[in-house]
This record gives sequence, C-alpha cells and structure tokens, in this order.
Amino acid sequence: MIFDLSSANEVTVASAHRILLVGFMGAGKSSVGPPLAQALGWRFVDVDDRIEEMEDATVAEIFQRRGEKYFRAVESAVVSEILGKDRVVIATGGGWAAQRGRLAALPSGTVSIWLQVSAAEAIGRVKDQPGRRPLLDTEDPLDEARKLLAVRSMEYAEADAEVDTDGRTLDDVTARVLEILSRSPWNLTTEKA
Ligand code: S3P
Repeated sequence: MIFDLSSANEVTVASAHRILLVGFMGAGKSSVGPPLAQALGWRFVDVDDRIEEMEDATVAEIFQRRGEKYFRAVESAVVSEILGKDRVVIATGGGWAAQRGRLAALPSGTVSIWLQVSAAEAIGRVKDQPGRRPLLDTEDPLDEARKLLAVRSMEYAEADAEVDTDGRTLDDVTARVLEILSRSPWNLTTEKA
C-alpha cells in the first residue's frame, strides 16, 4: 500500500517510489514498462531478464534443468531486491503476483498495476515468443491459459489499479497507466509534463 501510518490517528499519503506491473503472461508488462519508465524519468527492470542474466539461461531452461520451485525462489529473491530501490518501474513475471498475499505485502511507496488480458489474446501475443513461458508449452495452451488465469485473477485483483489491454495498442495502455498515476493519491507527473 502507498499509505503510511505516521501516527496512531493520522494517515499521510506517501509519494510513489516504484511502479510494479503485474498480470498474466502476454499482458504487456515488459512492453509497457520501458515507455512508462521513460515518461517518468525512472529506470526499468524486467524481472525475467534479470533472472536469465543471473542464471545465464533462459526461463525455459531454468524450468527444465532446475524445476519451477527453483525458478520461483530466484524470482522471489530478485523481486525482493528490486523492491528496495526507488524510481523504478518493474515488470514482474506472471507468476510472482499470483502467489497469495504478495500484493498486500508490498512495501510502502509501491503502486501495483494489473495489466489485464484475456486468455485468447494472451496466447495470440506470446505464440511467437518461445523460451519464456514453459507453463504454456502444453498440448492446449489456450485451455491452460484459461485455467491459470481463472485461479490467478483473484490475486492480481489485489493490485492498486487495473488496465484492460485487450485490443489496445501499447501507446494506449501506457497512456492509460500514466493517467491513473497522475491522479491523487499518487500524483506522479512525467518529466515531459
Ligand atoms: C510465468 C510468466 C513468465 C515467466 C515464466 C513464468 C508465469 O513471465 O516468468 O514463464 O508463471 O506466469 P511473463 O509474465 O513475462 O510472460
């Protein structure tokens, strides 16, 4: 949450220090992150990129060689580390915020945005990007995506705000996120404003 309890009776609004993009695979977190960070004059960090760098392997290779449990442990450590930084836009992998209680436990000053996508559109977007989504490497990826999304949506819905990305361009989605951020209580202004 972005509200700080500064005394027993008084709640003050803390300014936002980081934006956390959450949502399903193919929602556009890694695509929206860079233009968003640029508009804010902040840094962009993609969690999957960071994991692949650290492990010197693709996400799919990590799943295959070490298993999902290992991947989740690295992912958890990477996100915790980045959440300690300021002026950063973070694109999480779709599984991070899907774990219960993660969004409710975010440090103060973190604004979480759920980029929503339907299972059909997600599959359409990721089908030409092998190596990153072993969970969808099944006989029926659409059915798998529907099942995962149904379970995960409850957790994603804990985000501070949501933006539907279905049928929207990258520019539209980025503009919508910026509009949300410009509103009270976050009151974030872009460098260009
Ligand atoms: C995952 C999403 C992927 C990647 C990994 C697991 C998930 O990231 O972290 O394949 O569990 O939803 P994107 O959401 O960027 O595709």
